[in-house]
Amino acid sequence: MLSSTPFLRLITAALCLSSALAQSEFDWQKLTPSTQLDRKPCYTSFQGTLFQVRTPGPALLEIPVCADIEIRLPGPGNSGIDAIVGSGASFATIFGDQFDIVGFDPRGINYSTPLISFFKTNTDRQMLIPSTSTIGYPSLNASSDAVSEEWAKFQLLGKLAVAQDTGGFMQYMTTDNIARDILGITEAFGFEKLQYWGISWGSVLGATFATLFPDKVGRLIIDVIPASGVFDMEAYYTANLTAQMVDTDKTMQTFYDGCAAAGPDGCAFYAPSASEISANLEELTASILEQPIPVITAESFGIVDFDYLRNAILNALFSPYDSFVALAEGLAGLATGNATILYAQSDAPSFECNSSAPPFHENYLEAFMAITCGDALPVTDNVAQLRQFYENASRVSSFADLLSSTRAVCTGWTIHREGRFTGPVGAQNTSFPLLVVGNTLDPATPLVGAVKTAALFPGSGLLTQDSPGHTSLIAPSLCTYSYYRQYFVNGTLPPPGTVCAVNATLFPSSSANATGVKRDEVMRSPEEEKLLSAVREIQDARGVADIL
Ligand SMILES: *[C@@H]1O[C@H](CO)[C@@H](O)[C@H](O)[C@H]1NC(C)=O
Ligand SMILES: *[C@@H]1O[C@H](CO)[C@@H](O)[C@H](O)[C@H]1NC(C)=O
Ligand SMILES: *[C@@H]1O[C@H](CO)[C@@H](O)[C@H](O)[C@H]1NC(C)=O
Ligand SMILES: *[C@@H]1O[C@H](CO)[C@@H](O)[C@H](O)[C@H]1NC(C)=O
Ligand SMILES: *[C@@H]1O[C@H](CO)[C@@H](O)[C@H](O)[C@H]1NC(C)=O
Ligand SMILES: *[C@@H]1O[C@H](CO)[C@@H](O)[C@H](O)[C@H]1NC(C)=O
Ligand SMILES: *[C@@H]1O[C@H](CO)[C@@H](O)[C@H](O)[C@H]1NC(C)=O
Ligand SMILES: *[C@@H]1O[C@H](CO)[C@@H](O)[C@H](O)[C@H]1NC(C)=O
Ligand SMILES: *[C@@H]1O[C@H](CO)[C@@H](O)[C@H](O)[C@H]1NC(C)=O
Ligand SMILES: *[C@@H]1O[C@H](CO)[C@@H](O)[C@H](O)[C@H]1NC(C)=O
Repeated sequence: MLSSTPFLRLITAALCLSSALAQSEFDWQKLTPSTQLDRKPCYTSFQGTLFQVRTPGPALLEIPVCADIEIRLPGPGNSGIDAIVGSGASFATIFGDQFDIVGFDPRGINYSTPLISFFKTNTDRQMLIPSTSTIGYPSLNASSDAVSEEWAKFQLLGKLAVAQDTGGFMQYMTTDNIARDILGITEAFGFEKLQYWGISWGSVLGATFATLFPDKVGRLIIDVIPASGVFDMEAYYTANLTAQMVDTDKTMQTFYDGCAAAGPDGCAFYAPSASEISANLEELTASILEQPIPVITAESFGIVDFDYLRNAILNALFSPYDSFVALAEGLAGLATGNATILYAQSDAPSFECNSSAPPFHENYLEAFMAITCGDALPVTDNVAQLRQFYENASRVSSFADLLSSTRAVCTGWTIHREGRFTGPVGAQNTSFPLLVVGNTLDPATPLVGAVKTAALFPGSGLLTQDSPGHTSLIAPSLCTYSYYRQYFVNGTLPPPGTVCAVNATLFPSSSANATGVKRDEVMRSPEEEKLLSAVREIQDARGVADIL
């Protein structure tokens, strides 16, 4: 199972099979819910079940589970791999084809029932949480009333959640219960122990699972690498991610350094030194704060303002290898007064009101809040305290204006279940050692968190990927994935101190250099090509916007 969570956009639903599930038409409601895994056909080449889970409390949940059974078949069955939709085949390429890849929608999300929402209609939702907005984190520094406006918005969302939660279900959407569901699914498959790869929030889930069920760990990777990270669990369970921001500015520095080194051909926002690039960006940001730029495209319209620019920059820090070149182009355009280039990079069709569409199909933010705020100790900050929190966090990172949103979202949340798991995370004796992965410069889950988490599970292995960004999926690393394979297939941990490089460059040169060789153009074996494209495919399926 692969599990991940975009930050304020939460929960990539059908975890490892998300792209397959999103792309094809399949009506889960046609399946009879079952407490067994009946392996009914789902989508074109999977088998699955609407898996029933009973929660102490009001709801009987139905959690869709889809498994990639075909890739388990040896020999001629291999030809079926190519036909499997979505990322199933790519996971098989990475981990070997002896595994079933299992995806499921966590409770409350997407095809699970009941679904949660804070709203009666999509139109109501659009007014507070525009689905087309690229601003995941409104800046608390955008204006003098930004903190109070954010606070008020989340007070309102907290009250709407209570008003819509008539079934009393949201209190059960916590990470500990999702860990219990995973155990249920594992056992329904007839396995005694779990084999799991969790990225970002999926790491919180994995570590929580290993804490609650240490004797059920078969293989468990918690992955902070290139696009996600292992949280400092205490920070997570207290809704205080201040300590998570220690490397954010250093990740930004890789943009300045990389751009200066790439030269004017490699980086559109080039200046002769990193400090000049940094100063130019600061000047540009100040000018956009002063004078935002309206944009109209074929798809939509919008305003590139301070919030927009700050979010574009932060988003790029999560996936630098995919984003830095484009960010530089967007910034260069902006510096000449052309905001279209930056805007077009995340352009999406405008929302269309559709009164016959199901009211709450989209619920990223709602699910994020129900899980992370529901997990955490209650946050009762008033405006002054939230402002103080932001000011304190600003001493840790210049991105605190954005990342403090992770605190703000919980200020109005009042749904907490007595007796839920709130840490501490850790277990002396898991039935198999964990593999904890961290990348050297993660904007939201610093390496120190991986080191700390590994220490909480004595005997676990620690693998460092030498790259900026969030989780090991941000850039392909043949080295990292070979250790994953060795761990899953043979149970071998990387030697202590292992550091893996990535097979990608931040600013690949667009033209051949003096020796006639492009920076990215290296000889690869067919096997390497296959692995790299599998990683690329999983990355694409998750989408660049997935944060945390
Ligand atoms: C839920 O499924 C729909 C397909 O009906 C998809 O468009 C949407 O993106 C999914 N939502 C999430 C959170 O994955
Ligand atoms: C949040 O965490 C930071 C750093 O870990 C700490 O200095 C600060 O006091 C904490 N704030 C609250 C409100 O707990
Ligand atoms: C807020 O933004 C202004 C203008 O860009 C900047 O000078 C200032 O340092 C920012 N404050 C914080 C705390 O980040
Ligand atoms: C902005 O740049 C794009 C891409 O180079 C170009 O197509 C467009 O015409 C420019 N817009 C303006 C207003 O200059
Ligand atoms: C509105 O939603 C319904 C139900 O989901 C769908 O069948 C219909 O195609 C949608 N109409 C438009 C214009 O998108
Ligand atoms: C902010 O920092 C001060 C001084 O370190 C500390 O006393 C206070 O509790 C912090 N407040 C918050 C809300 O984090
Ligand atoms: C750890 O687990 C193993 C296997 O289950 C067992 O043999 C051993 O005694 C346990 N050690 C401790 C300290 O509990
Ligand atoms: C697992 O171990 C066997 C025997 O040592 C070796 O041949 C094989 O290459 C290893 N597989 C992986 C994926 O490391
Ligand atoms: C991938 O990176 C590793 C470490 O830098 C290097 O040894 C290997 O040759 C690279 N492979 C490819 C195909 O680029
Ligand atoms: C040109 O690229 C090749 C291959 O990456 C590299 O070995 C060489 O150092 C580069 N030369 C220059 C002048 O950058």
